[in-house]
Amino acid sequence: MENFSFVNPVKIIFGKDTIQSLSKEIPAGSKVLITYGGGSIKRNGVYDQVVKALADFEWNEFSGIEANPHYETCMKAVQLIKEKNINYVLAVGGGSVIDATKFIVAAACFDGDDPWDILSKQATIKDALPFGTVLTISATGSEMNGGAVITKAETHDKLSFGSSKTYPKFSILDPEVTYSLPMKQVSNGVVDAFVHVVEQYVTYPVNAMIQDKFAEAILVTLITEGPKALETPENYDIRANLMWASTWALNGWIGCGVPEDWATHGIGHELTALYGLDHAQTLAIVLPGVLTVLKEQKAEKIIQFGEMVFGIYNNMSKEERINETINAVVNFFEEMQVKTRLSDYGLGQEAVNAVSNRIKERGWKLGEKENITADTVRQILTLRL
Ligand code: NZQ
Ligand code: ZN
Repeated sequence: MENFSFVNPVKIIFGKDTIQSLSKEIPAGSKVLITYGGGSIKRNGVYDQVVKALADFEWNEFSGIEANPHYETCMKAVQLIKEKNINYVLAVGGGSVIDATKFIVAAACFDGDDPWDILSKQATIKDALPFGTVLTISATGSEMNGGAVITKAETHDKLSFGSSKTYPKFSILDPEVTYSLPMKQVSNGVVDAFVHVVEQYVTYPVNAMIQDKFAEAILVTLITEGPKALETPENYDIRANLMWASTWALNGWIGCGVPEDWATHGIGHELTALYGLDHAQTLAIVLPGVLTVLKEQKAEKIIQFGEMVFGIYNNMSKEERINETINAVVNFFEEMQVKTRLSDYGLGQEAVNAVSNRIKERGWKLGEKENITADTVRQILTLRL
C-alpha cells in the first residue's frame, strides 16, 4: 500500500424525511442562497420541503444550472451572492448543481484576476463560502467530496478542480427523492458510480486489501441493485443501496494508498464538451476501450475484478478471463440501457480525431502510469466506433 493521508469532513444525514433537518445544520442568521437546476425539484416536492425547512432564514434562490454546468451560469450566481451579501449556499440537486455550487462558493471568494484560473490553471482556492447539499440523484459522489467539473460553453472546455475548501459542510441523502428520476438518469448514475470505482481499483496491485474489498463491495452492490432499480423504480431499499454505494464510490476512501487511473473520465469529458453526450454515456463508451488497450498493464487487477465482481474464473486462460471480464462490463452497461459505442450516438471517425487532437493540445498523459497519450486515445476510441 502506498502512503496516504485521509480526511473527509462531510456530515451525512441519510434516510426518509431528512430534508427538514437542514434547518439545524445551517448556522442561525445565515443569509442563504438556494441553487438548483432546471426545475425537477419543483415537480417532485423537494423544493417545498426545502423552503419549509428554511422558514427561519432569509433566503434567495438561483435556478437554471444546466447538466454539465457552465462557468458562465456560475458567474451569474457569484454576482447575485455579492449583490445580496449571501454567506451560505444550499445546493439542491445532482452532481451538476453541487459541482456548480462548489465553483460558485470558491469564485465568490477568489482574490485572483479571473476565476476560470481555478479550472484552467488550478489556481489555489484560499477561501470559499460554506455550503450544504440536498442530493436528488445518486451518481457522482460530489455530495461527499471536494471536486467539481465545470464547462466553459464559449470554448467547450470541460475541466475539473478539487480543494479542501469545497467539501460540503453537510449532505442530506433521502433515497425517496430519487423516485422521480427519469430511468435514463437512474442508469447514468449507476454507470457513473461503477466507473468511479473501476478508476480507483482496476490499475495494478499494491496489496491494499481494505480498499480492494470495499471497491468490490460497491461494484457488487451496483451490479445487483442497478438492474433492479430499472424494474422496480419505487423500492426504498434498492434506492438506498444505490445512493450509499454511489457516495462511497467517490468519497476518497477507496482511493487511499492506491494508484488511480481516471483516463476514462479525462477522455469522456472531451466527448461531453464537444458533442454534449451525458457524462455516463461517455464512460460507457470509453471504459471498455481503456481496459482493452491497457489489458497487459492492468492484467492482474482485471482478473481480480472479473473473479470478485462477475464470478469469472476456472478453466480459462488469463487472456480469456480478461476478455470475459471486459465483455461482462459491456453487458452490464447495456443491461443498464446505456449504449457503449460511438456509433450508438451518431458519432464516428471525426470524434476519434477531435478527441485525440484535444488530448494532444492539452499535452495530457493519462492513466495510472501516465502513459496514455493522444495516440493511445486514438486507439482506444477507434475500438469503440
Ligand atoms: O436540472 P433538473 O431539472 O434538476 O434535472 C436534473 C438533470 O436534468 C435531473 N434530476 C436530478 N435529480 C432529479 C432529476 N429529475 C427528476 N427527479 C430527481 N430527483 O437529472 C438530470 C441530470 O442531473 P445532473 O446533476 O447533471 O446529474 P449527475 O448527478 O449525474 O451529475 C453529472 C455532472 O457531475 C459531473 C459530471 O461531469 C456532470 O457534469 N461529475 C462530478 C463529479 C464530482 N464532483 O465528483 C465526478 C463525476 O465523475 C462527474 O464528472
Ligand atoms: Zn464520473
